[in-house]
Amino acid sequence: MPDLEGVKIAKDYHVDIPFANTKSFYVKGANNLDWGMKRHLANIFSPVSGNTVMFAFDHGYFMGSTAGLERLDLVVPNLSDYVDVLMGTRGALRACVPPDIRKGIALRVSSGSSMLNDDLSHEVLAVDIQDAIRMNADCMAVQVFIGADGQLASIDNLSRCINAGLSYSIPTMGVVAVGKDMERTDSYFKLATRIIAEMGVNIIKTYYCDNFEEVVAACPVPIVVAGGKKLPEQEALQMAYLSIQHGANGVDMGRNIFQSYHATAMAAAIGKIVHEKFTDKQAYEFYLDTINEKK
Ligand code: R5P
Repeated sequence: MPDLEGVKIAKDYHVDIPFANTKSFYVKGANNLDWGMKRHLANIFSPVSGNTVMFAFDHGYFMGSTAGLERLDLVVPNLSDYVDVLMGTRGALRACVPPDIRKGIALRVSSGSSMLNDDLSHEVLAVDIQDAIRMNADCMAVQVFIGADGQLASIDNLSRCINAGLSYSIPTMGVVAVGKDMERTDSYFKLATRIIAEMGVNIIKTYYCDNFEEVVAACPVPIVVAGGKKLPEQEALQMAYLSIQHGANGVDMGRNIFQSYHATAMAAAIGKIVHEKFTDKQAYEFYLDTINEKK
């Protein structure tokens, strides 16, 4: 019960000013979602640039200990200042990431294969919605294998995640998987991203390709571009630049950040492209300057 002594009389009703909260929401495809969903999406996508830098360190869920991620407890806090969202498994997050890190959380919720399997396309939904709520996840990430043997199971995982997410206002991110036999063409990515978007996801993680602007145009929700195998820094920055130029709303990079010899400089340089309209050349100069300053 508040202390009522000295309470002021309400009188500033501004009756001549129309209701102020009428702006449409800035995240693609999210205008008709409820407040809780939008709140989570605003923890992921910057209200200023509209974009995001996600740092993916969920590789252990099928690769085990990965080069560059041997010590999650050292690597993740060290990089967190330079990114917007941390994408990891609940095991990695709970055990290795201090809960007072004020970053968005993309929680990997599908799992089921390992590098020892020939076919990685068979997964289950491994984390239930109650645990995603307990972890205050800003989105749940589900791998989807369009055209692979495990397609039906992955669509089932995705649908159950979206249904639970809608019940508790937690967005779902569909992650387009590319198996070794799958083509990385715009026609494949148009097919996969559109199927996943129509299932009801709020974000899609996929790869950059030729005609990427058409993949983006046909996809009604934001796309973040996956990093993939480690490239020379200049090439990885060029991929980030081309992705943003052609309509991506950010990147979700792992190895191209944590396997860089100068991982924090690399993450910061990517942020310049994603949020500050730097070209890849400007970002590479920034990367080199940052390294030289540290010497
Ligand atoms: C990819 O689909 C998975 O989510 C990965 O475990 C991870 O996010 C990949 O990151 P990167 O390919 O940039 O190392």
